[in-house]
Amino acid sequence: MQDSAKVGEKRILVTGAAGFLGSHLCERLINEGHKVVGIDNFFTGKKRNVAHLLSHPCFELREHDIVKPFTDETGFDEIYNLACPASPIHYQYDPVQTTKTCVHGAINMLDLARTSGARILQASTSEVYGDPEIHPQPEHYRGNVSSIGPRACYDEGKRCAESLFFDYHREYGLPIKVVRIFNTYGPRMDPLDGRVVSNFIVKALVGDDITIYGDGSQTRSFCFVDDLIDGFIRMMATGDDQTGPVNLGNPEEFTMLELADLVTKAIGSRSKTAFLPLPKDDPTRRRPDITLAKAMLGWSPMMPLRLGLAETIAYFASLLADERGTTSASDADVARLSGRRVDTEVQRHKPGFAASKSASSSEPSRATLVSRYAKPQMTG
Ligand SMILES: NC(=O)c1ccc[n+]([C@@H]2O[C@H](COP(=O)([O-])OP(=O)(O)OC[C@H]3O[C@@H](n4cnc5c(N)ncnc54)[C@H](O)[C@@H]3O)[C@@H](O)[C@H]2O)c1
Repeated sequence: MQDSAKVGEKRILVTGAAGFLGSHLCERLINEGHKVVGIDNFFTGKKRNVAHLLSHPCFELREHDIVKPFTDETGFDEIYNLACPASPIHYQYDPVQTTKTCVHGAINMLDLARTSGARILQASTSEVYGDPEIHPQPEHYRGNVSSIGPRACYDEGKRCAESLFFDYHREYGLPIKVVRIFNTYGPRMDPLDGRVVSNFIVKALVGDDITIYGDGSQTRSFCFVDDLIDGFIRMMATGDDQTGPVNLGNPEEFTMLELADLVTKAIGSRSKTAFLPLPKDDPTRRRPDITLAKAMLGWSPMMPLRLGLAETIAYFASLLADERGTTSASDADVARLSGRRVDTEVQRHKPGFAASKSASSSEPSRATLVSRYAKPQMTG
């Protein structure tokens, strides 16, 4: 497929296409005139994220689990490997499947890249740094990761995937690109996956208390999705000698109190802040060093948090209103949003889950929602 790459239009494979980042990437690639094949097993992805692309002649969506080999007779010019649940509640739900997705999935996509003559980009994560001892984290920092804890399926899975990418590069000369993504937010995030931005916005929209862990002085940095996708595209366009890994994220830090204040003011919400003890494993700071991305890609995030939040709030508000068919939202809408995804999509990948859920109700109880809300806000 190298020849078509030279003339502009490319045939590109995106794994995890129905997810938060994957759907934005497909949209961007199609808008640039490429033909995109998206694959997804719909574990956390939703067809609604790509509904607007389904009738586009340059887009094709196929249901496939990357743990199994993927065959395609035409081949691809580029592969973006994004498939993997990204939030702790999702990747810890079936940790063995998470490890398989990271490791077997990487091998399958790397083999496909070899047979296609494609370049391949891996969506890695800041979690490869684990609980970092240095701030901000540069790419040469080797991390502080537990191989036996509940997060290891994701952290170590992603680290192993990076190793595989570099082994295929050294052993077979495969052109690889590895980006390490820090906290990203924007429209099409899952409303109830325990991430701080979606968590604060949904609570503020329904008027519930916003839960802050500790005194709210811990900081996080947030990259708007369009900025991140721009980083992907720039990275893929670099020469074959540029493998990364390269950090992509927004180095500007905000305290949790500042974020809660920005969200409630933007919404005009009556929500108050409630404080709970800081969980033991909650890092007090997480911030990327993007010196390399600036030098190598000429990239840095452009979207101010206030504007990115406004777009994200508008998305969640319309999602809640759609659920109810009105323009106002309530806790029941949030329950439906959460319940629908868990019952129709997650259960397919966890035998036994459906039975235990249906024994009670098709919607999660208020207590379930509250406990989900009370999950520590974590990065992806
Ligand atoms: N969003 C972030 O802040 C963030 C941060 C760091 C890294 N990442 C990485 O970026 C990628 C995308 O993250 P996201 O936020 O869009 O998450 P997401 O959960 O919204 O999307 C992941 C997609 O992959 C699909 N998927 C999962 N396992 C699969 C499998 N075995 N086969 C096929 N499809 C599968 C899911 O159904 C979903 O559509 C992930 O690899 C994640 O690790 C994201």
